[in-house]
Amino acid sequence: MRTPVVIIGGGPSGLLLSQLLHLAGVENVVLERRTRDYVLGRIRAGVLEWGTVEMLRAAGVGARMDREGFVHEGTFLAARNAQFRVDFVQRAGKPVMVYGQTEVTRDLYFARAASGGTVIHEAEGVTPHGLDTSAPWVTYVKNGTEERIDCEFVIGCDGFHGVSRGCIPASVLRETERVYPFGWLGILSETPPVSHELIYANHARGFALCSMRNAHLSRYYLQVPVDAHVENWSDDRFWDELRRRIPHEAAETLVTGPSIEKSIAPLRSYVAEPMRWGRLFLCGDAAHIVPPTGAKGLNLAMSDVHYLSEALIAHYRDGEPGGLDTYSERALARVWKATRFSWWMTTTLHRFDDQGAFGQRIQEAEIDYLASSPAAQAAMAENYVGLPF
Ligand code: FAD
Ligand code: DHB
Repeated sequence: MRTPVVIIGGGPSGLLLSQLLHLAGVENVVLERRTRDYVLGRIRAGVLEWGTVEMLRAAGVGARMDREGFVHEGTFLAARNAQFRVDFVQRAGKPVMVYGQTEVTRDLYFARAASGGTVIHEAEGVTPHGLDTSAPWVTYVKNGTEERIDCEFVIGCDGFHGVSRGCIPASVLRETERVYPFGWLGILSETPPVSHELIYANHARGFALCSMRNAHLSRYYLQVPVDAHVENWSDDRFWDELRRRIPHEAAETLVTGPSIEKSIAPLRSYVAEPMRWGRLFLCGDAAHIVPPTGAKGLNLAMSDVHYLSEALIAHYRDGEPGGLDTYSERALARVWKATRFSWWMTTTLHRFDDQGAFGQRIQEAEIDYLASSPAAQAAMAENYVGLPF
């Protein structure tokens, strides 16, 4: 098989890139190692920046999001049993959209299928070759048979545990990392959300987040020790702990019910540089991970796709290769700003075992400052709704 662009990974970044290239007449093949149902079964991000919303609309996959998603014009932050609101529209001129990653991915799969796109599932042992030549190829095994696709570019959209990043020689790749000493225990429950907007809560017992997917589906998270096990967290224990960490008023109106999903995610910041080597380009989690506190992971994957799709389309349509040469630099400039914001949200809102009295008072001062300063709120809101790309 031969195609101009092979995309490894059929998560949100791979599928959106595939769709945008297709709309511009650049054909491509997506190789995904899991089944479609497995990919759609992963419960992940819930908040879309406005730039992501506009990209999805431009890609022709915005209709259901516009019908079923929820526009949020602000969020609540809570500490010491008091909460205040940051108004995104007032402070930064834009809202965000609450619409789950699962739904974004479903819409993208549907669009790729409707326009005859090739997404090959259960592609095992995907391996890129010849990335430092002008004629790379990718091999994989499907139904026990080895297949080969010759191409011009290989795009690594295969997430943090994918195969692509490891193809960049160690002498070239720079990795910068911070692993946080805690994780997030998340549950999904078929209950009405406790608040019409999200609540990010700082508490002496640890951070808590109240989020949602729709009017009947809530998503809640608790900071837990890094070695915590889901089996030790019954639903009752989860609800009791959540009630303790959010403001009393919210705790009193919290509706509880059985969880339909429960999992623990570790928190880390990680950036791989450069995001291009020869004919290989990395996009999304394949190149960087942020802790989820600022709701940036999925959105950052989407802004990488924006830069890369623009560069590939300029290359194929106008014979203009410049965008490919500057892709890594442009993408990384935004990646580092989102990495900073996610780190700041995480350190401001979570409890660190070694923070001591000084660390705690600094956190309280930071939150007081945010509660009282329009300038501080503008800085937070501008980053939360998404820096321009
Ligand atoms: P992915 O979604 O990881 O997609 C990569 C795809 O590549 C996967 O489908 C994978 O199966 C496939 N793949 C991997 N290796 C190979 C291979 N060798 N060959 C072929 N295919 C391969 N962000 C938030 O903003 N909020 C959250 O609450 C949140 N929760 C998260 C919870 C978890 C457990 C994780 C892991 C991430 C979470 N994130 C969250 C981050 C967000 O989901 C990611 O940033 C986003 O999924 C990145 O999209 P992606 O397409 O780059 O990567
Ligand atoms: C969700 C996850 C986040 O990390 C976040 O900051 C906000 C919302 C969510 O899953 O709904």
